Amino acid sequence: MKEQIEQIKNLAKEEIEKAESLQALDEVRVKALGKKGELTALLRGMGALSPEERPIIGELVNKVRDELESLITNKEQALQLMELNKKLESEKIDLTLPSSKIVRGSKHPINRIIEELEDLFVSMGYDVVDGPELETDEYCFERLNLPKGHPARDMQDTFYITTEYLLRTQTSSVQARTMMANKEKTPIRVVCPGKTYRRDDDATHSHQFGQIEGLVIDEGISLAHLKGTLEVFVKHMLGEDSKLRFRPSYFPFTEPSYEVDVSCFKCGGKGCNLCKQTGWIEILGSGMVHPNVLKMNGYDPEKYSGFAFGTGLDRLAMFKYGITDIRLIYANDVRFLNQFDRKDD
Ligand code: DAH
Repeated sequence: MKEQIEQIKNLAKEEIEKAESLQALDEVRVKALGKKGELTALLRGMGALSPEERPIIGELVNKVRDELESLITNKEQALQLMELNKKLESEKIDLTLPSSKIVRGSKHPINRIIEELEDLFVSMGYDVVDGPELETDEYCFERLNLPKGHPARDMQDTFYITTEYLLRTQTSSVQARTMMANKEKTPIRVVCPGKTYRRDDDATHSHQFGQIEGLVIDEGISLAHLKGTLEVFVKHMLGEDSKLRFRPSYFPFTEPSYEVDVSCFKCGGKGCNLCKQTGWIEILGSGMVHPNVLKMNGYDPEKYSGFAFGTGLDRLAMFKYGITDIRLIYANDVRFLNQFDRKDD
């Protein structure tokens, strides 16, 4: 019996030595020490031994078991270390290798313009407000002094959804919404940048475009406030040397109304292809809020007055960044958009 135990021990030792993986080692353990293993089988057969032999054999089996167990534990640790090293080796990172280029997105030119304008107007005490793009005829036209059938409606080619709903043609709709929401509360000082839609599509017009609207209402607001504000606006966007020219014009929601031109920032006013040799570029529409508009939207025109202005964001972006085709702004072509990477970030 002693020999048998010795044999089991030696074989197991050899196998432990040879085991190359944790799984193989476990198989050795089960074979020698497991419930159905060789040593257990031996212990079960001890009944056949004499009472003198039993304790001797029993002690020997326990000794061998302890010895094998500690060998297995050692080997287990060695194998674990080996596997870890192998893994570390295979996952090694070479920090000296050049990295692959990380492509960074850039802000869209229109968003740049919007952020710049919002910062400017907020610094002058304005709020930034929003309105729906799917608008009602009432807010886009009627409350702006453009009743149904008014000839000036033809100035804007409208996408009608139903007879009452349309895609707003101008952010001026937010003027009426802001007044109706404030009802005689003053002062109102808001700008509203956003998307607008008209049935146009060529190199200088897109069916979707951006506008920003400004509205100020309080007691004692005059044309001087409008002029001063627009001067700050235009100089900030297009350069301190810009000169402004107010040309009398017509908008149904303002009286008097003006179109504002800026001295050509390309030729400085001498005349070039950008300004069509005139030295001036039309930049925005503006005026004093029409008394009818004040009245219709809850403000007493005897007590309150205000000014409003509106301009196209795309045109501003085209001027500022020298973009020649408005459709580029909406084409999502990365070759175009990449050019604005980090520009004036
Ligand atoms: N909404 C006008 C347009 O789209 C622009 C405009 C003109 C806005 C005069 C105004 C304004 O607020 O007072 O052509």
